Amino acid sequence: MLYDGACPLCRREIALYRGLTAARPLAFVDVSNPSAALPPGADRARLLARFHVLRADGSMADGARGFVALWAALPGWRWLARLAAVPGVTSLMELAYRVFLHLRPAMQRVAGAFEPPSLHIPAGLRGELRSDHAGETGAVWIYRGVLAVARDAGVRGFARRHLATELEHLRLVTALLPWPQRSRLLVPWRLAGFLTGALPALAGPRAVYETIAAVETFVDRHYQQQLDRIDALPATEGAAVAPLRALLARCQADECEHRDEATALSGRAPGLFLRAWSAAVGAGSAAAVAVARRV
Ligand SMILES: [Fe+2]
Ligand SMILES: [Fe+2]
Repeated sequence: MLYDGACPLCRREIALYRGLTAARPLAFVDVSNPSAALPPGADRARLLARFHVLRADGSMADGARGFVALWAALPGWRWLARLAAVPGVTSLMELAYRVFLHLRPAMQRVAGAFEPPSLHIPAGLRGELRSDHAGETGAVWIYRGVLAVARDAGVRGFARRHLATELEHLRLVTALLPWPQRSRLLVPWRLAGFLTGALPALAGPRAVYETIAAVETFVDRHYQQQLDRIDALPATEGAAVAPLRALLARCQADECEHRDEATALSGRAPGLFLRAWSAAVGAGSAAAVAVARRV
């Protein structure tokens, strides 16, 4: 059986078949694994696009015919293979399979949202990671807010570059939390982020740079607190949590770069109004994190 191990739906189905095959072993090949040995002449992209079964005689069956070949080899499932032999049934199954392939990307996203994270997450850090997910969501929307308003080419280039980094951060922290553990307040975080970007963009480039410097100063400290908590864990847990630590440290380094770039672009020291706005942005970020740790 040649299946896509990167797909949460396929993994579940294969786990089912694996449990059935004690009496008559089948070989399972995860085609998404680049080091997996493929049948001679097979194309990985084609194998990933559809379900394939390689029969003992070397012939290949795909789609509905692949399932029929599989069922014929499974004790207790042969009646399904016989049913599929009724004229027209395999064609109908193939039609249903093609409809499924169209729906598969959306179904994969839903199934993926309930998958456990691939990294070890200490229970005490889940709230912090929820606040990171909320924070990175807000960060993405800050730059969308800037881009919705700003006309200055320098600010737009700055916002576009940072937006790409924040989208990558959001992708990374989203993968750390199954859907039920994510913040329930993503709509308010998006709105708050958008306004935090759009309002200073109305005032001009310096206000944008000062806002980003204030946000990132807070975010740097927030990531540092999490790294300190990880470093304080017992040594036995240190190795298991090392990949998570590396991921958070990587995000923190990017945020520090954003902060330093924004500070350098802002130039001279901010006036009273900008200082008050920056203080409000920092306090707002702290309040949002406190809420997102819980909800
Ligand atoms: Fe970020
Ligand atoms: Fe950032």
